Amino acid sequence: MPKLKALGHACFILSTDEHSVIFDPWLAENPEAACGPEEVEVDAVLVSHGHSDHLGDAIAISRRLGVPIIATFELAMYCERFGCRTVPLHIGGGRQFEFGHVKLTQAFHGSAIVNDDHIEYTGMPCGCLVTMDDRTVYYAGDTGLFSDMKLIGELNDLKAAILPIGDNFTMGPDDALRAAEMLEADLVVPMHYSAFEVIRQDPNLFAEKLRERGIACSILKPGQETEI
Ligand code: NI
Ligand code: MN
Repeated sequence: MPKLKALGHACFILSTDEHSVIFDPWLAENPEAACGPEEVEVDAVLVSHGHSDHLGDAIAISRRLGVPIIATFELAMYCERFGCRTVPLHIGGGRQFEFGHVKLTQAFHGSAIVNDDHIEYTGMPCGCLVTMDDRTVYYAGDTGLFSDMKLIGELNDLKAAILPIGDNFTMGPDDALRAAEMLEADLVVPMHYSAFEVIRQDPNLFAEKLRERGIACSILKPGQETEI
């Protein structure tokens, strides 16, 4: 069974015995991260959008390991400028890789890369469905609630849904609860709730409300993992 390990904020590693992928590796600049980017060993780097708490160390990891960044076309083209290997996909599109299958899903958010003196837009943000060992995980990315989550739940037998609960920039706990009901995943893993003061939430409250609705929840602190 695949394992899901939290590294902090919105960064996770999904792995089987042979393969692993990392989501949104914001590590060096995150004081709560479970490890540094130099310790990561993966087959691919998935990046949901260009914000710094998601693109993070993706370019550095991709370059050091020679593994591709999988992202939307525009964000992939941005990363190629820094000498990364990339696999551009786009929303609704999927592809089979040696480690498993990746399909990009919509997310309602921004995807700009903000530098000191300018903003560079890299198209739409995304979430993704990753299937390894025939088990599918939905990683929502940064997004507000949208009713097509119901469709995502109908089309996929989700073993886990990784959902933001921080509010302010993404869904808050109440909307994430509704998302969990629509997705009907076996397990919900909250993310994106601890790094900044404006997104501080108590994941235990969220977990309790899920359990009242008969939905399993696993709160993963940085460094913790669960089987999927
Ligand atoms: Ni964001
Ligand atoms: Mn974010």
